[in-house]
Amino acid sequence: MTSTAVQPLLRLEGVGLIYPDGTRALEETTLAFYRGQFTVVLGLSGAGKTSMLRCINALQQPTSGAIVSASVGSVESKARIRAHRRRTAMIFQHHQLLPRFSALHNVLTGRLGHHSTLRSFLPLPKVDIELAYDCLERVGLADKALTRVDNLSGGQIQRVGVARALAQQPDTLLADEPVASLDPSTAAKVLTLLQRVCREDGITAIVSLHQVELATRFADRIIGLAHGAVVFDGPPSEITQRTLDTIYYDRQLSGIPDPALELLEPAVTGRTL
Ligand SMILES: Nc1ncnc2c1ncn2[C@@H]1O[C@H](COP(=O)(O)OP(=O)(O)O)[C@@H](O)[C@H]1O
Ligand SMILES: [Mg+2]
Repeated sequence: MTSTAVQPLLRLEGVGLIYPDGTRALEETTLAFYRGQFTVVLGLSGAGKTSMLRCINALQQPTSGAIVSASVGSVESKARIRAHRRRTAMIFQHHQLLPRFSALHNVLTGRLGHHSTLRSFLPLPKVDIELAYDCLERVGLADKALTRVDNLSGGQIQRVGVARALAQQPDTLLADEPVASLDPSTAAKVLTLLQRVCREDGITAIVSLHQVELATRFADRIIGLAHGAVVFDGPPSEITQRTLDTIYYDRQLSGIPDPALELLEPAVTGRTL
């Protein structure tokens, strides 16, 4: 992609985050994201993935820099934050669905940002309900529409999360370790689904993961994060053992077995500390 070619959908311009206790979660970071790209942010626990995603969605105010969206500009004022969030869906590690409500009800909450505050309670218009059903159908859960979320399996719950994100009809989808609590086979199925629906709808996806095998399998682009800094940015084919050593080198835990590393294939765990 040449610099004159396509305008990025979203930019981080020197975005840095230091928490009030002094923790430097994200060094000043400049990145551009392009329409339809499926990017995986890869890093160990504590690398800064959640902090970065929360800054992108303006759930967290960065200490420095700005998030700039092609459609709303610099995401600063309340009105712009609202407009930016309406276009940006989020899927969480711990799903953040309403467990006692049906799958359909949860998917409908994805529509709330499209209505004024006064309208922001159910029932929503019929057209929204039809859209929510469609989204459940696309994730293979039409038959579970009226089932309470706390009666669904972990994989089904994350699929409801995908359907809720789709119902929002976003430009951008942020997913923070969406498969971390799933077994490997279910994790791969959920990521396959996520990648497929993003491709179908031209959604720009930024997905954080800690497993390199899943990252290389699903990403168009991998951003490697270590200690709050970008240490790699490129296609999976350009990842080398040295890159992995940098991403998976943990200053604090060096020498102590890291659960994330146990999920790697033996070929890539041969790091030298
Ligand atoms: N609310 C917070 N206050 C202080 N430090 C935090 C807070 N949230 C996260 N951190 C710290 O910021 C760093 C990055 O954390 P995080 O963004 O959660 O990383 P990841 O999602 O990659 O595990 C870690 O050192 C973490 O302990
Ligand atoms: Mg996290």
